[in-house]
Amino acid sequence: MSDSNTRPTIPIQIFENFTDASQFVAQKIVRLIQQKDAAGEKTVLGLATGNTPRTLYRELIKKYQQGEVSFKNVVTFNLDEYYPMQTDNPGSYHYFMKHELFDHIDIKCENCHVPKGDLPWEKIGPYCDWYEEKIKSYGGIDLQILGIGQNGHIGFNEPGSTKESITRLVNLEEQTRLVNSSEFEHIDQVPYQAITMGVQTILDAHEVILLANGEKKAKILAEVMANRMESSVPASFLHHHPRCIFMLDPTAASLL
Ligand code: F6R
Repeated sequence: MSDSNTRPTIPIQIFENFTDASQFVAQKIVRLIQQKDAAGEKTVLGLATGNTPRTLYRELIKKYQQGEVSFKNVVTFNLDEYYPMQTDNPGSYHYFMKHELFDHIDIKCENCHVPKGDLPWEKIGPYCDWYEEKIKSYGGIDLQILGIGQNGHIGFNEPGSTKESITRLVNLEEQTRLVNSSEFEHIDQVPYQAITMGVQTILDAHEVILLANGEKKAKILAEVMANRMESSVPASFLHHHPRCIFMLDPTAASLL
């Protein structure tokens, strides 16, 4: 078949374990920063939250502490934040990033961008446009790190998100709220909405690495690889990206 919806294949790299995968990505990020530094340029990273990137962030912190890398010329844009959400709420992605990465490296506060979950409702639209423009003002994201939801979401682009979607306010699926409720005292505290970069925002990144581990991700990864590109499995739109790779542990890759 050769219609435009037919999927090209995303390359997959399977590591012996997830620590190896995370270390590999950390090393790649350090090399990118060093190359950009040498060229006198800033490095623009797209970052994710959740369980998936925790080991990666620990590895980056280690490399910073060992003097291998400085984050002084690094600019970051996070994928998403709950709405409504205060930055000091322990369930917020602001809190996550601060504690899992930013507080432990020499990145400048003003260079760290996490979508704001504490804006009045009427300011969200202009703010989302500003987020898009801000990314563009740095020449786009050099490397976007992604995890994947069990329902195929990337960022909080839930099933139904279009390929053309950009940063916006979205409704969360009940399954997403349930899965993410472990970060809150009670599921009632998990917001029903979020601000997320869009699928197009992600596809515009120069390079994308999707990390996934564990058997809970095996089924959806098999769907992404088997499916054509469609809204019901948002991660399948990554087949459109010319420089996207999936880096997996053996259990996540077990159904491929
Ligand atoms: C987080 C994000 C989400 C997660 C996904 C997987 O910023 O954008 O798409 O990557 O929900 O979450 P974990 O890693 O907790 O399995």
